Amino acid sequence: MSKFYITTAIHYVNDDPHIGHMYENVVADVIARHRRRMGDDVWFLTGADEHGQKIERAAAKEGILPIELADRVVAKHHEMWRKLDISHDDFIRTTEQRHRLGVYELIRLIQERMPDNIYLGEHAGWYCQSEETFIPDNQVRDGKDESGHPVEMTAERNFFFKLSRFTEPLLEHYRKNPNFVYPPTRMNEIVSFVEQGLKDLSISRTAITWGIPFPGYPDHVIYVWMDALTNYISALGFGSAEHARFDHDWPADIHLVGKDITRFHAVYWPAFLLAAGLPLPKQVVGHGWWLRDNQKISKSLGNVVRPYNIIDEFGADPLRYFLLREMVFGQDQNYSDEAFLARYNADLANDLGNTLSRSTKMTDTYFGGKTPPVSCPANELLRMSEQVVPEYLKAMDELAFGRALDAAWKLLVSVNSYIVNREPWKKFKETGADESLSRILWNTLEAQRIVWVMMAPFMPATTREALTRLGADPNFISRDALQWGSLPTGAPIRATDAIFPRIDAAAYIQGGAMEEKTETPEAPANAGPPIETTQAAPPDIAKVTIDQFFEIDLRVAEVRAAERVPKSKKLMKMTVFTGDEERTIVAGIATKYTPEELVGRKIVIVANLQPAKLMGIESNGMILAASLDGEPSLLSVDAGVPAGTKVK
Ligand code: ME8
Ligand code: MG
Repeated sequence: MSKFYITTAIHYVNDDPHIGHMYENVVADVIARHRRRMGDDVWFLTGADEHGQKIERAAAKEGILPIELADRVVAKHHEMWRKLDISHDDFIRTTEQRHRLGVYELIRLIQERMPDNIYLGEHAGWYCQSEETFIPDNQVRDGKDESGHPVEMTAERNFFFKLSRFTEPLLEHYRKNPNFVYPPTRMNEIVSFVEQGLKDLSISRTAITWGIPFPGYPDHVIYVWMDALTNYISALGFGSAEHARFDHDWPADIHLVGKDITRFHAVYWPAFLLAAGLPLPKQVVGHGWWLRDNQKISKSLGNVVRPYNIIDEFGADPLRYFLLREMVFGQDQNYSDEAFLARYNADLANDLGNTLSRSTKMTDTYFGGKTPPVSCPANELLRMSEQVVPEYLKAMDELAFGRALDAAWKLLVSVNSYIVNREPWKKFKETGADESLSRILWNTLEAQRIVWVMMAPFMPATTREALTRLGADPNFISRDALQWGSLPTGAPIRATDAIFPRIDAAAYIQGGAMEEKTETPEAPANAGPPIETTQAAPPDIAKVTIDQFFEIDLRVAEVRAAERVPKSKKLMKMTVFTGDEERTIVAGIATKYTPEELVGRKIVIVANLQPAKLMGIESNGMILAASLDGEPSLLSVDAGVPAGTKVK
């Protein structure tokens, strides 16, 4: 059993987690879960970066202590990681005593090996508080750095780390370990940065107090990046009496971080470790960014996306799947709710969900609620599984999650065409539940079992549910489970409601249910590149019956009052008269209509919709509108039609 130590960046605690943080922890979790089930001895660390000017100022703005802010935000992180099913083994806070011990030990070793590795010097330069780093003069324009963050001139007498000494040793390390930074484009960026020659690095600050005091110099605090990077070893007990985990797990196998902070991990961190005589991490993996309108989503740019509603509505797994499916690992990707819903319906409700329902329902009917009595050792689905499983494993090793999922989908699509070609329902009519039908249905279940075992790191909870429905052991997801043949015969299956109920995406978005908690002028969602669906809808996709249509109570209503929902760009709160009562409806039409235009207008509503809370307001019903590139256009009726009139 080999050890596998993976870390995420530790997240700043100046605000609640957003989609970028979620993505990083889900990616690390998928890797950790996969390695665990492949038999590795995994240690997975995440945590919180609590010191520095950024946190100090955010707390001051609220009039609270930095630690109060940190405690509050850390609680949010814990809640979010629990909701997202993140399986970390430890969570480090840089305000913990064990962390301080580690930082002191690192500085002690760096000084002990060469006393002039750290020296006192004068420093003046542009400091970017958002990135907590000095910015070279040539990258500053009009008081801003290259990413548009404000910088301020800072002059201080600081401690310096002799980073310049490590230019050559680092280049040497990169040459010998070409995969030290991954993906390769990121490695190239790092090499060219270091080839320009490294300048010494200021590692203490006197202008702030919220940090770890510099040993022996209490008016200096340790530079927040030196402090933060050390979390990866302090969390393992480095510098404390109990360092068994450090001895066992260090060096890290993967530091997973965003591309904005790859340099801190691939240059500064290894330089500190070289200076201290400690082993270097094996790999720094730099992922891409989630964007909104082609801009990085970030607190400092004020365009955060927090898909908390999606998690509350759909559970963790659809979002986990979406984040890994939609983003080509290493590249950037625009976020939109529309893209999420499109993926949800096409990939999850349709591809995975319908295939599962169809095959379990037939099995249920033909074989009395049990997996068929005769299994099948040789067939085309078995051959397909033998082809895709190695593709999947290779892609997982290369962190090419999209390709890994593609491999699983190949098998899933084959199951579907197999069902279409073999027409089990016809066979059942002609010859009943005979041995040949048993083989056919067993094959469809067994192939799906393997598809779901491939899904396990991505959608852990749904995988357990799906395996149970298929009559398989919900916890058998190890490497052996990827081999054909383990689905028992005659085991109870569960054919029940859809595992991913289809969503009416248009109604969902128009109803405002997807409105995010954004604190900024909300830019129109960018749908990103078109979403390709992976297969045509299966032939039995339901059309609604006239009876189903009449279950929906469509009525004319009159708008009696309207006001914008505070802090929301899209939402309008309306009081509408339905002929016998007044009720409140909240709808995402405020970008198009003013309250004045709405009052007195006759509209069409869905009168018997389950109530829903939008930004804390209970909405009773939905108004109908056509959606043109996301712009709503209300359906209206002639003025003479009284409120309450049925629409059909
Ligand atoms: O940088 N898309 O913390 P942080 C993808 N405390 N990833 C994103 C992202 C986005 N839009 N926005 C942020 C810090 N991230 C330091 C790390 S480690 C010793 C100290 C990623 O809260 C970002 O790249 O700003 C980073 O890896 C992580 O979220 C935390 O970002
Ligand atoms: Mg950041």
